[in-house]
Amino acid sequence: MNDETKQKINKRYERELDKGERFWPDTIFRDLIMSLGIFLLLILLASFVGIPVEPKADPSDTSYIPRPEWYFLFLFKFLALYGQLPLIGKIEWLATVLVPGVAIGILTLLPFIEKSPNRYYSKRILPISIMTIMVTGIVMLTLMSEVPTVAEDGSTLLGTLQTIVGIFIPVIAYVLFAFFKSNTRLMIWTTSLAALSMIIISGTVLALAPEKKAEETEVATTLVDQIFAGQDLYSIHCTECHGDDGSIAVIQGVEGLEGEKITPINSRDVLYTITDSAMAEVIAYGRPSSGMTPFGKTYGGELSKSEIDYIVVFMRYMWDDRFEVPQEALKPLFPPLAAGEVPSYDVHIQPIVKRYCISCHRAGKENNNYLMTTYEEILTTGDQAANNVIAGDEGSYLLQVIQEHAIMNPEKPGEELIGVMPPNRALKPNVVDVFFRWVMNGMPRTAVEAGALSTTPAATPTP
Ligand code: HEC
Ligand code: HEC
Repeated sequence: MNDETKQKINKRYERELDKGERFWPDTIFRDLIMSLGIFLLLILLASFVGIPVEPKADPSDTSYIPRPEWYFLFLFKFLALYGQLPLIGKIEWLATVLVPGVAIGILTLLPFIEKSPNRYYSKRILPISIMTIMVTGIVMLTLMSEVPTVAEDGSTLLGTLQTIVGIFIPVIAYVLFAFFKSNTRLMIWTTSLAALSMIIISGTVLALAPEKKAEETEVATTLVDQIFAGQDLYSIHCTECHGDDGSIAVIQGVEGLEGEKITPINSRDVLYTITDSAMAEVIAYGRPSSGMTPFGKTYGGELSKSEIDYIVVFMRYMWDDRFEVPQEALKPLFPPLAAGEVPSYDVHIQPIVKRYCISCHRAGKENNNYLMTTYEEILTTGDQAANNVIAGDEGSYLLQVIQEHAIMNPEKPGEELIGVMPPNRALKPNVVDVFFRWVMNGMPRTAVEAGALSTTPAATPTP
């Protein structure tokens, strides 16, 4: 700083002094008013708006994945992107300590690095450029924080684009700054181009990002509704390994886990020792080491938090003898059949299949390609589609296997073509009876069609 500027600054200082504005008490007073205002605002926000709290911390829970507050999401994202980099991605301290350290260091040292007394924007291009890139990066990374780095189908396109925004462009811009720092025009160009491309690429990422599935609307409000919802979800997702009533101790008919021993989850051993929240966590996180995959959406599964809670409610009320089941929750799975009455798909078969078969007989499971989620699928799919369900034929494979007669392979003597169904336990006789009457009477779909086939009226009208 030469003498001339020093004098200029001193003169200005004198002038300000003359005007009467002093650091103490004037400036301090204004600061106090401002901070009091902010303080009051915070108190009002805290008392009237507040933020939702998470469930109580459970120190025995090792599967909890903490997520930072929104104002740290950019750092979270940065670390995720950095971790994907080849070679240096493994050197964690570079990203967790060095980079933030350098950034904060530069900010702290800025008054010493940038000694120019000029406060005009056009004379402070370097710091402004550095900050522009940094702030753009922070904003963009925060906006993209929800977009997965590796897509569900394993594609890394979005991840690569995010890395370009969060790491490559800023690094390239900063390197260029080092060369251009004395050329204002080049600096402005570099900064604008870098910031603009960061915004455009982030926009592309957000546009391409998979739509976040809307949380399902809360349908089950009453306890009974929750138990039913939990029952349905349990039947679909859990029956294949734990059985329709949670009593399975040896897994059967599940690829990769055949013969695996498990603790019956309807036992006191499990129900008395695991709290509701721990149970929800077991379901959400699974037991990956034993073969139970995660079910919670947070861990890549299919179930939302409330769906998992319904399953827990179902397990408690149906199996835990410390809970009393509401009477309405005990309604039978299907209306009992009168002599000569023919069951229909809509009224009888569908709920039975949902309870006992769907868990394995849906897409993505090992089941000889036999899907049972719709009427048509039950009649037409499967490797043995032609033999599974034949109207009026007792030998229909489906009827055979549910009566604990395995179908032997005609080409390889001594080997089963189809094992007994469900593999883990025999169906109750009244359920077998429903399947039997249904197939023998030509698989009617609706109650009306079934009624026409029945030999006695479904309900005897009271005179
Ligand atoms: C692919 C098979 C499979 C499926 C599907 C499955 N589980 Fe499991 N589950 C297991 C295995 C294996 C274990 C570990 C059992 C053990 O260690 O005794 C387990 C353990 C559990 C436990 C803990 C038992 C304990 O002793 O701590 C609970 C509770 C549980 N499962 C509930 C469920 C629920 C509810 C569902 C449906 C949302 C489900 N499971 C779906 C295989 C499965
Ligand atoms: C625990 C899983 C599981 C459950 C539950 C289950 N199945 Fe299966 N099902 C299988 C598997 C696996 C196969 C493939 C054949 C085999 O391994 O025996 C199969 C095959 C079949 C087949 C032969 C399909 C074909 O075209 O080859 C029929 C029929 C069948 N199941 C009926 C049922 C019925 C009816 C129920 C419900 C009452 C049921 N299954 C429940 C696992 C299951």
